[in-house]
Amino acid sequence: MGPLARIGAVGAGRVVFITGKGGVGKTTITAALGLASAAAGNRTLVVETAADGSLAGLFHLSKLDSKPRRIDEHLAAVAVDPQHLVRDYFSRLLKLPFLANRLLESASFRALTNAAPGIAEFLLLEHLSTWVDASFWHRRQRFDLVFVDGPATGHMRKLLRVPRQMLNLVIAGPLRHSALHLEALLTNPERCLVVPVSVAEELAVEETLETWAVLRQELLLPVGRPILNRVFPRRFSRSEVQKIVEQEDGGPLFEAARYAVAMQQESERHARTLRRGTGKAPALVPEFFSGIPGAEELCRCGRQLLEELFAEAGWLSAPRTKKSHAN
Ligand SMILES: Nc1ncnc2c1ncn2[C@@H]1O[C@H](COP(=O)(O)OP(=O)(O)OP(=O)(O)O)[C@@H](O)[C@H]1O
Ligand SMILES: [Mg+2]
Repeated sequence: MGPLARIGAVGAGRVVFITGKGGVGKTTITAALGLASAAAGNRTLVVETAADGSLAGLFHLSKLDSKPRRIDEHLAAVAVDPQHLVRDYFSRLLKLPFLANRLLESASFRALTNAAPGIAEFLLLEHLSTWVDASFWHRRQRFDLVFVDGPATGHMRKLLRVPRQMLNLVIAGPLRHSALHLEALLTNPERCLVVPVSVAEELAVEETLETWAVLRQELLLPVGRPILNRVFPRRFSRSEVQKIVEQEDGGPLFEAARYAVAMQQESERHARTLRRGTGKAPALVPEFFSGIPGAEELCRCGRQLLEELFAEAGWLSAPRTKKSHAN
């Protein structure tokens, strides 16, 4: 077995949040990482939070359930709807489901839960944590690795900021206890990794760098190597590129070659910007020219990515700390 087989040896599960601007490839990359992680023998869960069914689609399912559904020997997938979590929470709290339903149907209450307190985000994080925490009390299935197909960057920042906000607001009681627990999970580089995804476009790269600054410098979260998706391969030597660029009116083939060269150079330029801004070389994912790839190709691409991301995060061989022996 390869080095990936050693993942999960810290005694508790790990969570990886995949984030990025809309349409950059978060869902595709979540599926690729999940497939590769499971193929290496890790009990793996992929989580859809967008409720758009696109993660389900990559596994040839029409939709995912709110309970983990087994896809393969080591792979399960689940859809989490934060609004359902809010509904459940208030039903439990108020003990009278009809009251909770009425309350949640009211526009003013929805506006309140959507705005200030971040209750939906808090419940989502708590829900995720039960899949990675080795607790006797949690009867839910536990996983070695949970990959969260996160919301686009703005919402992801809100999500990951919530435990800290709660800690500023709540001075005692079970809510504070939960917030402390979540904060400890999210800021632990042995157990949490945030992976920003970008494509070689100005706006996406800018957004990645902004998010990087907030997550890393302000929230002190373990942010991994950025991923640069849809990279055009280097097909021509330097002298060939020169000839292609200099050739005037060479017909459609030359046009296509010029386009490929321009795109490849753009990828390199943006990779350099990401590297300068984050201090980490981005992991590159090639453009799939033949449409959405099948599970085998996704898994191959995911394996390469996992090795690059986890090597940098120090997750390939379990750290021999007292804590990891104790667990
Ligand atoms: N490396 C790639 N090569 C070619 N096409 C890709 C690649 N990565 C993603 N795509 C395509 O780009 C589109 C968007 O990808 P995906 O749905 O994974 O992005 P997303 O970030 O999850 O989008 P959203 O923000 O809408 O959730 C899809 O059609 C997907 O097949
Ligand atoms: Mg998506």
